[in-house]
Amino acid sequence: MKLKRGYLFVLEGIDGSGKSTHCKMLENWFAEQGITVLRLREPTDGFWGKKIRVLLTEGRKGVSREEELEWFINDRREDVELNILPALKEKKVVVLDRYYFSTAAYQGALGLDPQRIIIDNESFAPKPDRAFFFKTPIEECLRRIHSTRNAVSSFEKKDYLEKVQSLLDSFDDPIIRSIDSFRDREEVHHQLINEIRECFNEGES
Ligand code: TYD
Repeated sequence: MKLKRGYLFVLEGIDGSGKSTHCKMLENWFAEQGITVLRLREPTDGFWGKKIRVLLTEGRKGVSREEELEWFINDRREDVELNILPALKEKKVVVLDRYYFSTAAYQGALGLDPQRIIIDNESFAPKPDRAFFFKTPIEECLRRIHSTRNAVSSFEKKDYLEKVQSLLDSFDDPIIRSIDSFRDREEVHHQLINEIRECFNEGES
């Protein structure tokens, strides 16, 4: 299937909410439809993304929240320039595991202004066609995190994730679709596909 333009679909949600599984399922689905797809994730594996991953595994230590925000923004600028914009220009579908709503929620939860973060990001980062906000009860997310990993990062503490979740809940934009991800994964997948088909109906007509 040849698309008239590129599309950007973003999956957001707290750690353990199921985004990554569904990014992969969507990637396979697009490929089955004969649609060229690029699956990406932020933080990336680039220079800034690597610095961020050290922060995640070793803790924030002396890094200030402003510095932390800057690293995520630098990482995103690279991702936008090197990966996202070129793919959209080639009319590909980009499936992105985390984007600027994560920055607004996670760095916003440190006391930075979430709306300012969104405005600053939208000055350089293309707006997604849809942002799917995954929601699973925090207790269940924590259970999943603990059962799949032996190390839990400082970003995955309950009180912090509660703040992140409440900020995610507060964001209001017509591109946002709330996805109850505490369900059978096939059901969630079908909901995503329906939303994507609807988006294509708008964009391709
Ligand atoms: P995550 O999706 O959990 O990566 P992985 O599964 O590969 O470990 O993302 C890593 C963490 O980064 C996660 O706790 C959320 C955090 N994060 C931010 O704080 N701000 C951001 O802008 C982004 C993109 C992620």
